[in-house]
Amino acid sequence: MNLPVLVAEPSADYALLDSGHGRKLERCGPYRFIRPEAQAMWRPASLDWPADAEFIGGSDEEGGGRWHVSGTLPASWPIEQAGIRLHAACTPFRHLAFFPDMAPHWQALAAVSAPGSEVLNLFGYTGAASLVAAAAGARVTHVDASKRAVEAARANAVLSGLHNARIRWLTDDARKFVAREIRRGKRYDAILLDPPKFGRGPEGEVWDLTQHLPALLADCAQLLDQDSKLLILTTYALRLSSVAVDALMRDTAFPAGQIESGEMAIREAARGILLPTALFSRWTPDSPPPVAPGQH
Ligand SMILES: C[S@@+](CC[C@H](N)C(=O)[O-])C[C@H]1O[C@@H](n2cnc3c(N)ncnc32)[C@H](O)[C@@H]1O
Repeated sequence: MNLPVLVAEPSADYALLDSGHGRKLERCGPYRFIRPEAQAMWRPASLDWPADAEFIGGSDEEGGGRWHVSGTLPASWPIEQAGIRLHAACTPFRHLAFFPDMAPHWQALAAVSAPGSEVLNLFGYTGAASLVAAAAGARVTHVDASKRAVEAARANAVLSGLHNARIRWLTDDARKFVAREIRRGKRYDAILLDPPKFGRGPEGEVWDLTQHLPALLADCAQLLDQDSKLLILTTYALRLSSVAVDALMRDTAFPAGQIESGEMAIREAARGILLPTALFSRWTPDSPPPVAPGQH
């Protein structure tokens, strides 16, 4: 099984500058950040990492930790990714309020989004993927359990000049929402799901990925038909392998098509080292979506 790696390249507003010794140095807009990165086991290119803030403490598993800001840092600052604008910020969960490694998925989503197409973004967070699809003319349904995340996504729509775009902003539990859409006989052209390892719906509904993903995928497959174009699944921070995710996708009753699974990574600007970030698997009705220049 030859596992493809989808690579997010450095961009004007985001770059992985250096990595090593369990940490990474990133530029986001005009600011530099140091964050823990357990997989960066190699030596960094330099030991001198001037940064505006560093996230210290906590762990992938348990969370915790906090940002230590050296100078003055605004609560948020505008950045551009994939042609849309986002409010970047240091979040309590060590994030920067967007996930730069999703760039290859934004490209694939934009390639299948067109006026009149229906796109569902589950676990949508601050809405980058929703805005990319809406900018291409799609009608988008954005679902996230967190009211704050949905508000942040709406603020990103305003910043991107997409506040009048056809986007349904829903604070809801992903499983409940998809089950209702099946009962309504709804279908989508593209679905993106990016679930956390563990989460809670707005009414405390428990989300446990290894327990609940098989049923959610089976339900999402019922929202696709022979005219649908794409389903993308990404999974983070898990002791899960692409081989297992691939087997689950192949065991799911999707319409006729292909399954492609592999890893996601961010390319370090200077040395070109790939820093792995997540796993992906995608269903397409026929030959895989166009591979953007530089992907392999
Ligand atoms: C890893 S983030 C998604 C990142 C997003 N795809 C992006 O690229 O910006 C996971 C999101 O899942 C949401 N979430 C957690 N449990 C949920 C549930 N049961 N239903 C819907 N959303 C949930 C969280 O609020 C969080 O915003």
